[in-house]
Amino acid sequence: MIELKNVSTFYGGTVKAVNSISLQVSDGEIFGLFGPNGAGKTTTIKMMTGILVPTSGDISVNGVSIKEESAEVKRMIGFVPDAPNMFLSLKGIEYLNFMADMYDVSLCDRKERIEVLSKRLEMSSVLRDPIQSYSHGMRKKIEIIGVLVHNPSVWIMDEPMTGLDPRSSYLITEMMREHVNDQKTVFISTQSLDVAEKICDRVAIIHNGQIVFCGNIDELKEHFQKQEARNSVS
Ligand SMILES: Nc1ncnc2c1ncn2[C@@H]1O[C@H](COP(=O)(O)OP(=O)(O)OP(=O)(O)O)[C@@H](O)[C@H]1O
Ligand SMILES: [Mg+2]
Repeated sequence: MIELKNVSTFYGGTVKAVNSISLQVSDGEIFGLFGPNGAGKTTTIKMMTGILVPTSGDISVNGVSIKEESAEVKRMIGFVPDAPNMFLSLKGIEYLNFMADMYDVSLCDRKERIEVLSKRLEMSSVLRDPIQSYSHGMRKKIEIIGVLVHNPSVWIMDEPMTGLDPRSSYLITEMMREHVNDQKTVFISTQSLDVAEKICDRVAIIHNGQIVFCGNIDELKEHFQKQEARNSVS
């Protein structure tokens, strides 16, 4: 479960990238933050994952405040950024073992999880190759395996489908659904209404750093129908 309470942040003391947003994401749901370029999606995710400290407000994960216990919150999260370009000189398997070390995953558990996840995402045959030699989609997939190796309770992805082929997108969507069926949480950001509608249980629309809508997919469709009707009248 994730809770954001009146969270704001400024860049350089002046640019208000996120303006007093409040959200509640429950266990068992895939939640989408939907909005155009520059709306504040990545900034919000950076605050949820402890990369950026909010100027005001607080965020808690499973009841633990990120302000007070940032390390503990980070242990509960698996985060995949929008452009995964880290650890390029490592081989896939070295990166996965590094992530398992970071999260204290036992040798036995990591072996099993790496095997299962790599097979699932069709990455088993390239684990001995350097990440530098991977395509964009493969880099994203190795990073997904890396953040899932400790079986986090909250899985966060910034623009999850960018750069993935249709089959990989399908596999990731399936894995997200299994994650929440296990009473865990998935939080994604997207610029695509199609992704939001197809993947998410609930969606918040962010615009100019503010939440302008939050609801389920039926309510989202209704929101856009009303907006279209308003536009056709004016
Ligand atoms: N490091 C930074 N310094 C100054 N301003 C920033 C910085 N990062 C983001 N911003 C500004 O904050 C606002 C929100 O940016 P953010 O990256 O959160 O948007 P986004 O919704 O993720 O967009 P996109 O869909 O393009 O990824 C934008 O106005 C952006 O210009
Ligand atoms: Mg972004």
